[in-house]
Amino acid sequence: MSTSERARLETATAGLSAPFAVVDLDAFRGNAADLVRRANGTPIRLASKSVRCRHLIRAALAHPGFAGIMAYTLPEALWLAGADGDEPLSDDILVAYPTTDTSAIARLAADPRAAASITLMVDHPAHLDLIARAAPDPVRPLRLCIDVDTSWQPLGPRLRIGAHRSPVRSPAQAARLARAITRRPGVELDGLMAYEAQIAGVGDLPPGNPAYGRFLRAVQRRSRRELAHRRAAIVRAVRAVADLRFVNGGGTGSLHTTSRERAVTEVAAGSGLYHPRLFDHYSAFTGRPAALFALPIVRRPARGAATALGGGYLASGTGDPDRLPQPYLPAGLSYSSTQGAGEVQTPLLGAAAEGLEIGDLVWLRHAKAGELCEHFPTLHLVEGDRVTAAVPTYRGEGRTFL
Ligand SMILES: Cc1ncc(COP(=O)(O)O)c(C=O)c1O
Repeated sequence: MSTSERARLETATAGLSAPFAVVDLDAFRGNAADLVRRANGTPIRLASKSVRCRHLIRAALAHPGFAGIMAYTLPEALWLAGADGDEPLSDDILVAYPTTDTSAIARLAADPRAAASITLMVDHPAHLDLIARAAPDPVRPLRLCIDVDTSWQPLGPRLRIGAHRSPVRSPAQAARLARAITRRPGVELDGLMAYEAQIAGVGDLPPGNPAYGRFLRAVQRRSRRELAHRRAAIVRAVRAVADLRFVNGGGTGSLHTTSRERAVTEVAAGSGLYHPRLFDHYSAFTGRPAALFALPIVRRPARGAATALGGGYLASGTGDPDRLPQPYLPAGLSYSSTQGAGEVQTPLLGAAAEGLEIGDLVWLRHAKAGELCEHFPTLHLVEGDRVTAAVPTYRGEGRTFL
């Protein structure tokens, strides 16, 4: 990325003390428009875990094409639904992962507005038992969504290509769980979700490895085909038991293909708004890095080395080097192979380090999207060469959910 990009960011943030995080609103809006374009008319449910800032969740939801929130915990969903006394952000919030938080379920069951706004995820009768124990007499039936395993298993269960998520895989299993829901008092079937992580979350242009890229694209093509058939059959089987308000699928990396499936009524996305490092290598789209953080250079330990304060904001997942933040500006900086990104100090190496002086800034990108917000209380919103607002992250509002 260019010197002018760095100059623009540094002009905008000249009054700030590093470390700090920014979101470039022009890039954020451009990314939102591109997600909507790729969703091709299918509404996008906003994955809040990938944003973790109420102001920006609101901004994304105001963008035509986005509708509803995909939350990551029930306490978060209650907060976003207004159950803690704040203004509600949405009346359609899907908690995308099963909850065992019985006190939060009890709160949901006692709050008519929250109970009419929030849908819980289930994939096992044990979830139904737990919900029944936590909420024996809800103010209204609690809305439930069935999560479906999307993995491709070309050789049966011994070879799983995809995430370990739900045990519900076949139309018969999904229909059985749907019947179990319809037989219980206090709950109702609301939706179905099938998120294909092996397609949406895996870039198909791995850098420096075109052969692996070809292999990945072939695997993803087959997985996509298998899932399209199975998802349609599952939706038919479940709809024969009870109506479904929504069928959710996809993520940032698969909007353009998941949205083509007739059985899918909505897609989900969030990461594409910030466009973190892990989303750089997809053949179908190129986003603009919108979320960045700046660290101060505090030492020059040797020629070709400049040390930044902090920086060890690793992303969740496999623990591979691609989970490290990407040194972004100035271009050409790399980590020390023995130190990586440190808890309090990060040496950055390379010719570009020679141009850095104590007190200068370096700009980095997180590997994932919302996790960055767990390290900063504030996001400074940049428009052109100005910071136009400073808004709190979840953490800045004293909320950490995971
Ligand atoms: C259930 C579910 N849907 C969709 C997504 C996609 O989110 P994003 O667009 O932020 O990658 C995720 C991400 O992990 C997810 O867990």
